[in-house]
Amino acid sequence: MAAHIPTLCTAPSSFFLSSNRSRQTNNLSLAAKARGNSARPVNATTTRVKDEVAEDRGTNLSAWTSVRQERWEGDLDVEGYLPAWLNGTHLRNGPGLWDVGDHASHHLFDGYATLVRITFRQGRATGAHRQIESEAYTYAKAKGRPVLREFSQCPKPGNLLDRVRNVVGLVSGSVLTDNPNSAVLPLGDGRVMCLTETTKSSVLIDPETLDTVGKFKYEDRLGGMMIQSAHPIVTESEFLTVLPDLTRPGHLVVTMAAGSNERKVVGRVNCRGGPTPGWLHSFAVTEKYVVVPEMPLRYSTSSLIKSEPAPFYAFDWLPASGSYMHVMCRSTGKTVASVEVPPFMAIHFINAYEETREDGQAVIVVDCCEHYGDPAIFETLVLHRLRSFRDKDVLPDARIGRFKIPLDGSPFGELTTALDPEQHGRGMDMCSINQAYLGKKYRYVYACGARRPCNFPNMITKIDLAEKTAKNWHEEGSVPSEPFFVAKPGATDEDDGVVISIVSTINGDGYALVLDARTFEDIARVRFPYGLPYGFHGCWIPEKI
Ligand SMILES: [Fe+2]
Repeated sequence: MAAHIPTLCTAPSSFFLSSNRSRQTNNLSLAAKARGNSARPVNATTTRVKDEVAEDRGTNLSAWTSVRQERWEGDLDVEGYLPAWLNGTHLRNGPGLWDVGDHASHHLFDGYATLVRITFRQGRATGAHRQIESEAYTYAKAKGRPVLREFSQCPKPGNLLDRVRNVVGLVSGSVLTDNPNSAVLPLGDGRVMCLTETTKSSVLIDPETLDTVGKFKYEDRLGGMMIQSAHPIVTESEFLTVLPDLTRPGHLVVTMAAGSNERKVVGRVNCRGGPTPGWLHSFAVTEKYVVVPEMPLRYSTSSLIKSEPAPFYAFDWLPASGSYMHVMCRSTGKTVASVEVPPFMAIHFINAYEETREDGQAVIVVDCCEHYGDPAIFETLVLHRLRSFRDKDVLPDARIGRFKIPLDGSPFGELTTALDPEQHGRGMDMCSINQAYLGKKYRYVYACGARRPCNFPNMITKIDLAEKTAKNWHEEGSVPSEPFFVAKPGATDEDDGVVISIVSTINGDGYALVLDARTFEDIARVRFPYGLPYGFHGCWIPEKI
């Protein structure tokens, strides 16, 4: 495959912008009182520290370093052995550029979207990366600073007229970012979408060239819904997602048939707490139901209107407002259960399924990466902390939180820990499963875990929910991203396949690690000629035969 620019084979450090710049944050205290049936006291903390100074330890780690070049494409070196059946493309999306002009972003989530492609074919591999040409990115390049509102950055209104423009822009969505840096998903009709949580961030890309094809234009009457889940559930026939409603606190569940651009409303869940909907980055489905979480981390209207960060950026942590799980029937749109649960903080839901208890009652089991009801993880992901606190054990604990939601009208649901968190180092997030088990009883979760001490998940873990054990991969100083499971075609065992994770090493290198999903042994490393920034989520597109 021809390179668009000369293949880079020189020092990776020259390929990146380096930034030691950091922004100071205010010391914030949070008085949070929980209510409900929590088995563990809610101790919401913020780790923002006054006068905290970034301390560059001089690593070459590329995970937190902006790509300097907008695109690259070329052949990749393969070390080890790629299975003969592994033919297709792994795409990974994430925030790969945090520096524009003299501006250095504050938070990991602020980075402009960088797509990475690795194509496997008969034991060989080619790769590419490319910036997604969102309006947010192109405006920022032109102005040398962010123009639209990113996760932690709100362009400050300068005068009354600006403030009015800001409010009008909120209504129209024009001030919100369209930087699609979270997920990349093949739709059932062959189109490939990148997106994040603003509806306008839905962008189509070409999976081979990584060209930005253009905005995904929803052709329906839901244009007033500015926010969406960053993790729609996509199958060959359907695109199912949840739209938080900021004006009438609640969540709309919508579906779109493959090949269509029209979303249709399945049903609506009204919020039980308030004053705004809980943040909903992801959600879960079973074969019959959609599970809509209502977390006490709620959208902050004052932050939106004033264009100022709330204690947790666009959110307020309001545990006294309650935590709930709602279950909607996928075929009728009716809410069949709405239960109060212990306060929880989950960015990523893993899977859910229907189960019958010993007493004959039906329950919904829902698993998530749960941060012990504490949004402190947000502050852990501030860039200068990631760059400088590498050896400090500042990563907040996380576990597989397992909800059980009764369908018999009971008012409460359970939240327990699915396995001893020490198995995965008391840290876990960025999960994948065998997609054939979506919505069904399953056994294995692949996720990033923690080898302590650490300031970020630095391990890959395979969690066995039946045996309640984990197998772990770790290499000193390396930062792996989401381990993505790819099933062997025709496989019948749940873990028959490989796990692919793009790794940034302490030496500045970058490669795709390929693990045998059964044994969790390292079978191949597919090396880029330069280090890669950290990324969020990936997908697999099998080669057409
Ligand atoms: Fe995500």
